[in-house]
Amino acid sequence: MDSTFWLDKWQANEIGFHQTDIHPLLTAHWPRLDIPPGSRVLVPLCGKSRDMQWLARLGLRVIGFELSDVATADFFGEQALEPMVTPVGEFRRYSAKNITIFCGDFFAARPNLCLPCDAVYDRAALIALMPAQRKAYLQTLRSLCSPSASGLLISVEYPTASVTGPPFSIVRTEIDQHYLGWGTLREIERRASDVKGQPAFEVAYTFGGVAVADGARVGT
Ligand SMILES: C[S@@+](CC[C@H](N)C(=O)[O-])C[C@H]1O[C@@H](n2cnc3c(N)ncnc32)[C@H](O)[C@@H]1O
Repeated sequence: MDSTFWLDKWQANEIGFHQTDIHPLLTAHWPRLDIPPGSRVLVPLCGKSRDMQWLARLGLRVIGFELSDVATADFFGEQALEPMVTPVGEFRRYSAKNITIFCGDFFAARPNLCLPCDAVYDRAALIALMPAQRKAYLQTLRSLCSPSASGLLISVEYPTASVTGPPFSIVRTEIDQHYLGWGTLREIERRASDVKGQPAFEVAYTFGGVAVADGARVGT
């Protein structure tokens, strides 16, 4: 999808993807990553997700990227936060307390924009992108993270004949290709859901240096 598609969606308030509640797969599985307070969490294509506030309340520093100023301003307004807005290169940097959102095209982000992130939270970002955009998305994502970063990915799967994306259905074999070399990719839960009224699954994965039950770390 091009920028206009998403900017128009926000202008028209056609934001069926936005959730008023914190995502249950985030609250269920984020603790597995064992990310200490003060760490930097990258939230690509963040919209105005309230999940960012949940992460911030854990004492994490949230770094979001979002195309739309409407979404970005709404996020801070709904959290009763008054952000400082500063132009930084091709982005407008909105910042309040421990949340920063770079408003602009994620694909234009370069590592010198911010310090390397320690973790990633991707809900409805990869699956919002056309197949041809996904390789560049992963390259940008990795370039903004430290080599030991870990993350939680929430994807969807559905019979592709029944629905037109976004969100796009992405199966494990494709996700394997994108996350190859980024620690260990694990499917940790799939929940029955629906996409545009059709039966679907939401699938949660962890990747990178994921903590296991005994506190030891595996992966890179
Ligand atoms: C499906 S929504 C998901 C939003 C959010 N992750 C959530 O869970 O509610 C995808 C979001 O990505 C944003 N977006 C799309 N392309 C983008 C790009 N190239 N750079 C930054 N944001 C983008 C859209 O404006 C939209 O808010």
